[in-house]
Amino acid sequence: MPRIQPLPDLLISQIAAGEVVERPASVLKELIENSLDAGATKIDVQLEEGGVKLIRVADDGSGMTRDDLPLALARHATSKIASLADLERVASYGFRGEALASIAAVARVTVTSRTADAPHAWQFDAASADSAPAAQAAGTVIVVADLYFNTPARRKFLKTTATEFAHCDDVLTRMAQVRPDVAFTLTHNGQVKRRLASADFPRRARDLLGDEFLAHARPVEAMAGPLRLAGYAALPAYARSSRAEQYFYVNGRFVRDKLLVHAARQAYADVLHGAHHPAYVLFLELDPAAVDVNVHPAKTEVRFRDARGVHQFVFHAVQRVLAAPLAAAHAAASGVPPVPRGFPPITPTFAPPRQTSFAVHEPNAAPYLDFVSQAFSDAVPPTPTFAATAHPLGYALAQLHGIYILAQNTEGLVLVDMHAAHERILYERLKTSANNQTEVQQLLVPVLFAASAGEFASAEAHADTLATLGFAISPAGPQQLAVRAVPVLLSGGDIVALARALLADLAAQPASRVIETRRNELLGTMACHGAVRAHRSLSVPEMNALLRQMETTERADQCNHGRPTWVQLSISELDRLFMRGR
Ligand SMILES: Nc1ncnc2c1ncn2[C@@H]1O[C@H](COP(=O)(O)OP(=O)(O)OP(=O)(O)O)[C@@H](O)[C@H]1O
Ligand SMILES: [Mg+2]
Repeated sequence: MPRIQPLPDLLISQIAAGEVVERPASVLKELIENSLDAGATKIDVQLEEGGVKLIRVADDGSGMTRDDLPLALARHATSKIASLADLERVASYGFRGEALASIAAVARVTVTSRTADAPHAWQFDAASADSAPAAQAAGTVIVVADLYFNTPARRKFLKTTATEFAHCDDVLTRMAQVRPDVAFTLTHNGQVKRRLASADFPRRARDLLGDEFLAHARPVEAMAGPLRLAGYAALPAYARSSRAEQYFYVNGRFVRDKLLVHAARQAYADVLHGAHHPAYVLFLELDPAAVDVNVHPAKTEVRFRDARGVHQFVFHAVQRVLAAPLAAAHAAASGVPPVPRGFPPITPTFAPPRQTSFAVHEPNAAPYLDFVSQAFSDAVPPTPTFAATAHPLGYALAQLHGIYILAQNTEGLVLVDMHAAHERILYERLKTSANNQTEVQQLLVPVLFAASAGEFASAEAHADTLATLGFAISPAGPQQLAVRAVPVLLSGGDIVALARALLADLAAQPASRVIETRRNELLGTMACHGAVRAHRSLSVPEMNALLRQMETTERADQCNHGRPTWVQLSISELDRLFMRGR
């Protein structure tokens, strides 16, 4: 057995780098975080060959003195914390004093930096540890070239230039999202890929995610004790086929946290089907002492002291927004970006650049959310809602092709998908009534229908479940089933179609426990078949009754599949169609 001996320094750093520096994007993340920690207001990123050949990040932050430069590249040297107490309340991105040292162990690194009061800049070469005077404005430029030049095994794991660039772009997007006040540019192989001017939060969200996201976004704003949540949650109609548009931040730090993703997903559970993923940008703020950020090498996971409480808070906050009846939906439908009024601004945007030397500073309180709140609060005036009018959806005018209801409200024209809206109302009511005791209508004359062997078997196997749902279905002959009771809410629908759909749904399931695991799905089937069919003509009073029900039903703005149930066309939108007033 060989003797135990200490590892050489470079090897220690290379091993550490294995955790921190997974690919060019991880280098970029560390460099942008450092620039933000240094109070930069402008960050320019230049990449070559997906960042493998070159990553150059220039900022206008506090800069470093000549003496700071070697320390910046030394392991376990940081200006951001000085004690365990600091670590437990850390509000800067960095705290380990490890990123630059790790990067320098696997790439060629030069740092050029100048503080505001220095007569000129200093350039420091990590490999030779030489410094030389240089010409540059106040701020820092870090160049990372030839990633993994000395660790070829790792280089093999890198993907194509396009993939590595895409990861870098993701990193920049995430940072830009949470710091709209900072201007960013991104250049790849000499081509400008992004140019983001300093902006407020809604504007930055639009720059990064596009008009369509913003048109579907509803403001989220909640506060409970020490927890605050702000941002945007997109209506289910905007659901995506991937999770790419899910941005969750904890105290300004982008995280991929299972607990938070789960809480948000739960909030959409009732309005989003199957393979679709919700889209959102959410900023959670809490006491830094209540969350541990030091649990993952790339700091993309966190641990909450009160995980359950955080889950509940996020779930309810998002769910409330999605469930809010019509007044809020109107803001989205009218095409005006909805802007939350925001939390009361606490500090004037950002703290001044924090570090001018390696002296220890009191960690500042996380400025991120305050900024977001401010952006919310003073950007666009709050959208006027029509809460003042008695009936937001107005009054029915007519039915169109047996599918849509046309109604008039103070804004203009309202179009309602009659079946989808009614289905949603029934679904919500069925859920409520199932929570209490489903009211059952005994049918004086049972409804008979010819049943298949499968339907027979299903009726028999699931008799208990059917009873719980408010149905009594039993044999009435060798090839006939009789429906003898249905829930009161559905008694006006097509009972045979309803019974068949339900039996088919149940047939696929083992009899035991089906009601616990699939109740909402079954209620969905019931609602779909109980709802008015297309081409059934409705009288004006019937249509008005439907509008009034929509106004008071939670989540009535989207059907069970996440599609909208109604849209608003304002007079000005109609005017535009006819080019009036041009
Ligand atoms: N762009 C910059 N502007 C000013 N100072 C910087 C910049 N980048 C790094 N520094 C200084 O160099 C030090 C080391 O940076 P490094 O990223 O290695 O560690 P850290 O940010 O302190 O912690 P972490 O390893 O968690 O990122 C920082 O603490 C900071 O003082
Ligand atoms: Mg750092």
